[in-house]
Amino acid sequence: MFDNFPLWPQRASTMAGNVDALYIFLLMVSGLMTLLISVCVVFFAAKFRHRPGVQAEPIEGSTPLELTWSIIPMGVFLVIFSWGAVVFFQERTPPRDATEVYVVAKQWMWKLEHAEGQREINELHVPVGRDVKMIMTSQDAIHSFYVPAFRIKQDVLPGRYTVAWFRATKPGTYHLFCAEYCGTQHSGMIGSVVVMEPAQYEVWMSGGSTGPLSASGEKVFAELGCATCHRPDGQGRGPNLQGLFGKTVQLEDGRTVTADENYIRESILDPGAKVLKGFKPVMPTFQGIVSEEQLNALVAYVKSLSSTRPGNAMAAGSTSPPAKASAQRSQVQ
Ligand code: CUA
Repeated sequence: MFDNFPLWPQRASTMAGNVDALYIFLLMVSGLMTLLISVCVVFFAAKFRHRPGVQAEPIEGSTPLELTWSIIPMGVFLVIFSWGAVVFFQERTPPRDATEVYVVAKQWMWKLEHAEGQREINELHVPVGRDVKMIMTSQDAIHSFYVPAFRIKQDVLPGRYTVAWFRATKPGTYHLFCAEYCGTQHSGMIGSVVVMEPAQYEVWMSGGSTGPLSASGEKVFAELGCATCHRPDGQGRGPNLQGLFGKTVQLEDGRTVTADENYIRESILDPGAKVLKGFKPVMPTFQGIVSEEQLNALVAYVKSLSSTRPGNAMAAGSTSPPAKASAQRSQVQ
């Protein structure tokens, strides 16, 4: 239904139908209420119009009437609320085993880097039928990652990561817009998402990679000398990063936080903000030293050290990208 309706963008993700159904329901409720109210206005205006010899009689409240117009709308609003909440949580919760793409927005382009190492500008290639999670940040202003055909829109902020995900259902090329005014060329900050058949995608993937993102991260990690403090044997001045990602950790000031992408990021740029329990705030900041791309690579590397991501703890020889990364790592060590 409505698939060729020109007011709706194409539907090309698993989420699109759910969003549209809710939207159509809202339109129908609003339409019905508008109709009901305008019919009543016209009908009452005609019925109770001023005529010679007819006197209007005011009434003083009616409990059944007031209950009706309170309880029915409340029910309708609660349906809208619960339905909206379900769709919202689906959109907000990326599946755990989703493929990851790091996105850096800047005035005025989208820079994308796959966990497998492929880099793209203003174009994102994805396979049909696979969950894709985008970990996004901005180098300057606030931008917004918007793919109408997938019904996703997420603000992209400087200084932290925001996340969006989708699973494409139809091969094709879809618009990618910036949906937040971000300067004079905002309207030109356009790209496309190319959804490919899995076999075609594998071919695309096999070309032009500089190695997994986590491997670039490992290189940055070594170049910056991080390993002198973050020693894998736990004897360093900084915490051992093996298996850290995804864990709930205790901080020096008694708080607990989840070691997620934003925590790793903050700990690199502002190391004193959330010091792990048992450690001293001795780490220098890397603000201004690492670029957004290097930061993403470092986050991907720390992530690859953790066994919470599927495929990571598996032995070398597995074909999944994180396992490849850890196989490479063991060669380096
Ligand atoms: Cu970026 Cu608007």
